[in-house]
Amino acid sequence: MLTDKKIVVGITGSIAAYKSCLLIRDFIKKGAEVQVVITPAGKEFITPITLSALTRKPVISDFFSQRDGTWHSHVDLGLWADAMVIAPATASSIGKMAHGIADNMLITTYLSMKAPVFIAPAMDLDMYAHPTTQKNLELLSSYGNHIIEPATGFLASSLEGKGRMEEPGKIASIVESFLSAHEDMNGLRVLITAGPTHEKIDPVRFIGNHSSGKMGFALAMECAERGAEVVLVCGPVDLHIQHPRIHRIDVESANEMYEASMEVFPLCNVAILCAAVADFTPEQVANEKIKREGNNLVLHLNPTKDIAKSLGEIKQPGQYLVGFALETNDEKNHAREKLKRKNLNFIVLNSMKDSGAGFRYDTNRICIISANGETQYELKDKKLVAKDIINQLVEIMQ
Ligand code: PMT
Repeated sequence: MLTDKKIVVGITGSIAAYKSCLLIRDFIKKGAEVQVVITPAGKEFITPITLSALTRKPVISDFFSQRDGTWHSHVDLGLWADAMVIAPATASSIGKMAHGIADNMLITTYLSMKAPVFIAPAMDLDMYAHPTTQKNLELLSSYGNHIIEPATGFLASSLEGKGRMEEPGKIASIVESFLSAHEDMNGLRVLITAGPTHEKIDPVRFIGNHSSGKMGFALAMECAERGAEVVLVCGPVDLHIQHPRIHRIDVESANEMYEASMEVFPLCNVAILCAAVADFTPEQVANEKIKREGNNLVLHLNPTKDIAKSLGEIKQPGQYLVGFALETNDEKNHAREKLKRKNLNFIVLNSMKDSGAGFRYDTNRICIISANGETQYELKDKKLVAKDIINQLVEIMQ
C-alpha cells in the first residue's frame, strides 16, 4: 500500500497521457496523495479538469497562477514528495531532464526533486531507439533515476515496436514495491570505496587499472535506497550519482583513498571495499615529463597501504567489513586468504575468467565467501548483484 505517501505525477505531451488517469487512480486507491504537474504540451492531450477531479487538487502547470498570481514553488514540491513519477515521458522532456533545460514547471520540479524519480518513456519506436534518446536515458539512469522501460506492441502511429508506455498498473506496482520496501538499513552509516586509483609517475602519466566504479556505485545506491547514509569514496571515474543520502568524496591515489577511509570508518557501521586500489605506487614522482632516453626505463615502486587490512585492524565490535577479491587463478583459495588476513566479515569474489564479470561490464558474477561457507550467484546486472550483497550483509547484521 501507499498509505500517506506523497507522489508527484509529471505528465508530458504524449498520447499516452490518457493512461496517466489510470495511474493516478491506482495511486489514490492505494492510499497515496497525488499532485499533478503537467507540461503545456501535456495539457493538449488531457485536460487539467479531469486530473484535478481525480486528485482533488489543482493541477500545476505554470510557475504562477495567471488568475491570482499564486506562486507554485518547484522547490517545495521537491521537498514534499516521497516519489516523482513522470509518465508519460516524451523524448523531448527526457532530453531536457538529461541536460537541465528548465523551461517549464515539470523540469524545474524534476531538478528540485529530493525523492526518487521514476521515468516511464512513451514514444514511437524509432524515436525510442534513436541513440540520442538512449544516451539521454543512460545519463538519467546514471544520475540515479529509475527508468521504467516501455513495452513492445501496437503504437499510436499504427506501427508495432518498443515505445508504448508501460501499463499504469505495472508502473503503480513498481513504485509501490519501491516505496514499501522496508528501509532495512535505516540509521546505518556505510563507507563504500569504488573505482580505480591513479598513481602518478610524472605530470602526464600514471599507473591505473580498468575499474569503472559501476559495482561500487550500484552498492552505494542500493544502501541509500534502503535507508543508509553512504559515504562514497571514489577514485577517478566517469560516473555521476545523485541521492540525498550519498555523500561523495573524490580521490585520486591509493594514499588519498586510505586517508579518507581511515577518517570516515570510525563513524560508520559498515565499510564495503569495492575499489580496485593500486598495490604499488612509484617511489618518486618526476616533476617534469620523463623523456624518452636510453633503451629502458626502470620505475621503482613501493607498496601502498592496504585500506581493507588497516580497517580490519581498527574494526570495533558491531562494525562490519566487506571486501572484494578480483582474481585470475586459484580464486577461492586467494579469496579465503584475504578474508582472514584483512579481518573481513565476508568477501565478494569475482573472477576475470568469467565472461561478463569484473571490470567495466554492467554485469557481474560473484561468489560470497565467509567463515561459514560460500554462496555462488549467477551472472546478473550489477544493480541486482548489489542487492544480493546487501541482503547478505543485512542478514549477518541481525
Ligand atoms: O568498477 P567496476 O568496473 O564495476 O569493476 C568492479 C571491480 C572488479 C573493481 C570490483 O568488483 C572488485 O573486484 N573490486 C576489488 C578489486 C581488487 O582490487 O581486488 P583485490 O583482490 O586486489 O583486493 C582485495 C580487497 O582489498 C578489495 O576489497 C580491495 O578494495 C582491498 N584493497 C586492496 C589493495 C589496497 N591497497 N587496499 C585495499 O583496500
